[in-house]
Amino acid sequence: MKISPLSPIGIFDSGIGGLLIAKEIKIQMPNEDLIYFGDTRNMPYGEKSKEFIIENSMKIASFLYKKKCKALVIACNSITSNALDILCKTFHRKILIFNVIDPIVKHKILLSSKRIGIIATPATIRSNFYTKEIKKYYHHLDIVQISTSLLAPMIEKGFKIKKNIINNYLNRLKSIDTLLLACTHYLFLKQEIDNFYHGKVRLIDIQKIVVQEIKKTLNDDKLLCNHPTWNRKFPIFYTSSLIPTFFEKQVRILFGKKVFIKTHVFNFS
Ligand code: DGL
Repeated sequence: MKISPLSPIGIFDSGIGGLLIAKEIKIQMPNEDLIYFGDTRNMPYGEKSKEFIIENSMKIASFLYKKKCKALVIACNSITSNALDILCKTFHRKILIFNVIDPIVKHKILLSSKRIGIIATPATIRSNFYTKEIKKYYHHLDIVQISTSLLAPMIEKGFKIKKNIINNYLNRLKSIDTLLLACTHYLFLKQEIDNFYHGKVRLIDIQKIVVQEIKKTLNDDKLLCNHPTWNRKFPIFYTSSLIPTFFEKQVRILFGKKVFIKTHVFNFS
């Protein structure tokens, strides 16, 4: 399949989590054409088995591949930590694959940390992906990780997360100098988390680092779109259930009114 700098970037998550990654792509690479897929029907992925996550993420990746994307961005830690290997094997040499974990783990930013906390979904914690990856690059780092299972489903529905829920989780992560928000949904909670730590624990700017890496690779591979903005298309957002109100609201806040939001239902087994 012929791809070119004008081909779209496909990006997917279980729901709204990846929207902030998509937004950062638009900020750093405004000429890029985006197709987003939120598997809202199957959210939360954090509660699903590895097999389920593999099967469903393969369907979404194939869907985006058929839309002639030049790159796939796995904007979900639960998918990355459970299905990255198989997605890379399947799409190797066909399409560029990016994820939200590798660029962070490999980034020099962690060199100055001593003890890092990780909050993530049960599926990400169960995979132990972060610990394995971090230990490859940094021997000096102490890692404390906890599963914060209530957060993503509440964020997805637009519920206000009560302070005591955040406090209950983060009280278990007090003696850390850096915290990784290892679920893209939690990026929507950054301010509340920063307030809990009174700015004294470093929160890594996940979206910036991930998108810098995407931009660099596209540029190195001569796939970055430098086409004038007047020719730019509006992003398309797919959901796998009837478009949830809060999903639509977030899309409009982040990307404006002139975007397309559609439902695409797979024949899931
Ligand atoms: N946003 C996803 C992640 O980064 C997961 C949320 C969910 O569906 O549980 O892990």
